[in-house]
Amino acid sequence: MRKPIIAGNWKMNNTNAGTKALITELIPLVKDVKGTEIVICVPYTNIATAAELIKGTNIKLGAENVHWAEKGAFTGEISAEMLVELGVEYVIIGHSERRQYFGETDATVNMRVKAALASGLKPIICVGETLEQREKNRVKSVLKKQVDGAFADIPEDQLANIVIAYEPVWAIGTGKTATAQDANDTIKIIRNRIAKLYNRKAANKLRIQYGGSMNAKNAHELMEMKQIDGGLIGGASLKAVDFSIVVKH
Ligand code: PGA
Repeated sequence: MRKPIIAGNWKMNNTNAGTKALITELIPLVKDVKGTEIVICVPYTNIATAAELIKGTNIKLGAENVHWAEKGAFTGEISAEMLVELGVEYVIIGHSERRQYFGETDATVNMRVKAALASGLKPIICVGETLEQREKNRVKSVLKKQVDGAFADIPEDQLANIVIAYEPVWAIGTGKTATAQDANDTIKIIRNRIAKLYNRKAANKLRIQYGGSMNAKNAHELMEMKQIDGGLIGGASLKAVDFSIVVKH
């Protein structure tokens, strides 16, 4: 019922030359994939190059962040309209690296989500607990706070345009993946929270990805799980063959 979505998160990797090489290699590897949505989220400076290369393919384009204001005195920031103009469809919001290193809060995540939706961009909202929070048995309360914050004042009819990525911080870039069962169970907690905020039907339609060291070796097992609707892929999205294996899981 929920169409799987595999999204690459390139982070701060690849110049335009690297972008060209990676996408050119990726296109033929995934060209026959139909049942899964394929997205690559690339640095701002690579968006125009990527947009040109993926024209007419089954690969969609995403950005890694967006500012909440329409325009103005925000040096170094990028607006939703600027992304839409270049053909961007998805945007990652609230990645744990943004929360950790750049002061992102649940409130700013919510503002970015609203701005993205208002311009027709589809947010991929990242949530997830740190190792310390997990060890203190705070997973449920942390996720509740992040989900409630991100979805504040977001109307139900917008949920079809939103994807959540559950990314336990301790699994990102560490090679330590959550077990498939654990990822599944935690995503269920998130889905239940959405059901509480909206209703069960809306929650059952919302796509929730797993992210955190998902790769060519473990993608199949994770994607077999009932609650897991896709993946947000960092490291493994930088290698065309590996990413294509995840896409085909
Ligand atoms: P990783 O990154 O796959 O390299 O762990 C995932 C992410 O941060 O989105």
